[in-house]
Amino acid sequence: MSAPLPIVILTGAGISAESGLATFRDKDGLWEGHRVEDVACPDAFRRNPALVHRFYNLRRAGLSEVEPNAAHFALARLQHEYPGEVTLITQNVDDLHERAGSASVIHMHGELRKVRCDLCWRGREWEGDLDTETVCPFCNRAGGMRPDIVWFGEIPKFMERIGRALDRAGIFAAIGTSGHVYPAAGFVSMAAASGAETLEINNAGTAVSSHFDRHLTGPATVQVPVWVDDILNRFGK
Ligand code: OAD
Repeated sequence: MSAPLPIVILTGAGISAESGLATFRDKDGLWEGHRVEDVACPDAFRRNPALVHRFYNLRRAGLSEVEPNAAHFALARLQHEYPGEVTLITQNVDDLHERAGSASVIHMHGELRKVRCDLCWRGREWEGDLDTETVCPFCNRAGGMRPDIVWFGEIPKFMERIGRALDRAGIFAAIGTSGHVYPAAGFVSMAAASGAETLEINNAGTAVSSHFDRHLTGPATVQVPVWVDDILNRFGK
């Protein structure tokens, strides 16, 4: 039996699609006539904060209507049972990895269930709605509260930690992500440069498919458990 190589996994909207959460680019990518990119950016928030709050309030509320699926559960099992290191990075702002039992999840694009105040920079977990009148629980001022989400034009979170994991990666897998948004779309090249074997799991080809060594094509709820079983079987799990 070979030593367990460090595994780095990147997930995108496709892993949550079968739980009932819409992806960004599969259909027309519009929300009530707005391009998602036009709602998810700092300019939109300055121009029309009520609209941006409504967009994220609906998404936050929608989390209670969905459940993790077999792909989320399989990755949680991998994290618990694999004898080596498993780093799980997600671009998703939902909490389905956590609810499936993943103890450590790097949310590089932020989280719907977290908010922060632009006036005092402090943040916390949040269940209800936000609006332009919401008072910050830390500085008691209104007008600064926003979803703790990385918008277009903002810097993704945890990039140093992600860079270190990609440097060490022996296996890199990208699951349910279209490869259109950087820096995440570049992780496959960074991992390959570190000598990692690279795998793409997706139900279709992506903008970066040609950069991967191997592909598992099909729904995440089918292909991710197959991949995880295959890895854990090698270690007698
Ligand atoms: P996309 O909507 O761009 O891509 C979803 C990918 O999942 C596509 O490649 C689909 O083919 C694939 N897919 C859909 N259903 C699937 C299924 N059941 N099984 C397997 N694959 C499936 O979503 P992301 O790549 O995650 O950023 O988008 C990246 C970022 O763009 C998001 O994090 C968000 C967005 O703008 C921010 O909000 C900053």
